[in-house]
Amino acid sequence: CGNIEGASLFTEEEEALVVKSWSLMKKNAGEWGLKFFLKIFEIAPSAQKLFSFLRDSNVPLEQNPKLKSHAKSVFVMTCEAAVQLRKAGRVVIRDSSLKKLGSVHFKYGVVDEHFEVTKYALLETIKEAAGEMWSTEMKKAWSVAFDHLVAAIKTEMKPSS
Ligand code: HEM
Repeated sequence: CGNIEGASLFTEEEEALVVKSWSLMKKNAGEWGLKFFLKIFEIAPSAQKLFSFLRDSNVPLEQNPKLKSHAKSVFVMTCEAAVQLRKAGRVVIRDSSLKKLGSVHFKYGVVDEHFEVTKYALLETIKEAAGEMWSTEMKKAWSVAFDHLVAAIKTEMKPSS
């Protein structure tokens, strides 16, 4: 360990809370991912229009594999962000991937409010999955990891050159 900056940003306990709850959800990642996105669309129905693969598809929402895989990316990358915040004191994403992530979300018209709704839905979904394991500490750990990841993505939310 020994990274003072990192330690103050994200503790080992916080990392463990994120990793533990995600490992619980992993087996049914598709199912939780679907619940997660249904919550988002319940609060912000218009967000559905952002996803090209939902617009151009006759497959019902519940069966759309791309929706499940996007949901899983959000979970996995937030979990990875937690690990990196503890280890490195910051979110580390390969430069090229971060640029791609930023430009894709910019291009599809994702705005601050979408990230806010998504954060809320993410926490609600984890709360449901974690059951008795859920705590304010667990909520805070996921929130902090998500906020840092989103901040990193937002730095690259501009037109791709
Ligand atoms: C695409 C991750 C938040 C909407 C993607 C892709 C990834 C990703 C990995 C695929 C990019 C590629 O093509 O290489 C994430 C992560 C998020 C996040 C980690 C938050 C931490 C959001 C939010 C929205 C959103 C809040 C809107 C509600 C989209 C859309 C696409 C996309 C519309 C393009 C889908 C398409 O191809 O039609 N995201 N995302 N994302 N994301 Fe996200």
